[in-house]
Amino acid sequence: MVQRFLHNGAMNFLVLHGVNLNMLGQRDPAHYGHATLADIDGALQALADDLSVQLQCWQGNQEGALCERIHQAHRDAVDGVVINAGAWTHTSVAIADALAILRCPVVEVHLSNIHAREAFRQHSHIARIAAGQICGFGVDSYLLGLQAAVRLARARTRTRT
Ligand code: DQA
Repeated sequence: MVQRFLHNGAMNFLVLHGVNLNMLGQRDPAHYGHATLADIDGALQALADDLSVQLQCWQGNQEGALCERIHQAHRDAVDGVVINAGAWTHTSVAIADALAILRCPVVEVHLSNIHAREAFRQHSHIARIAAGQICGFGVDSYLLGLQAAVRLARARTRTRT
């Protein structure tokens, strides 16, 4: 059964952070900057408030746990998903397949410009199911990603009514 969990009628978005992103702030600042995951989630919550949408942020280091969180997002009928899958971007057909189950827009984000890095980072399994990809803008990649997801979700609602 599809359950919608709406608070005050607001749309509901989910930001997913994959493997090793809990280590931001201590990890390769030349590529990922100095912001911690808590800083990023705080900036996203502030933007969600400005946009009058509900937001949940989730991070995990187990691939199966991320697939299960995506399945939960399907049951919850979230309105949009922003995902930085970290290294799983380049390796995980399973995560891309789980995302493909969702009926809402999915926006792929990365802090670094994956296309300007090692060859193995230049392929994304998620790109085939994402509405689009934003990378290379540090924390702003997430903020732009949430804005894009909200715009896409609102446009879909308008075309349905
Ligand atoms: C990343 C890029 C990936 O290649 C890397 O494995 C990460 C972070 C980014 O945000 O730039 O963990 O997704």
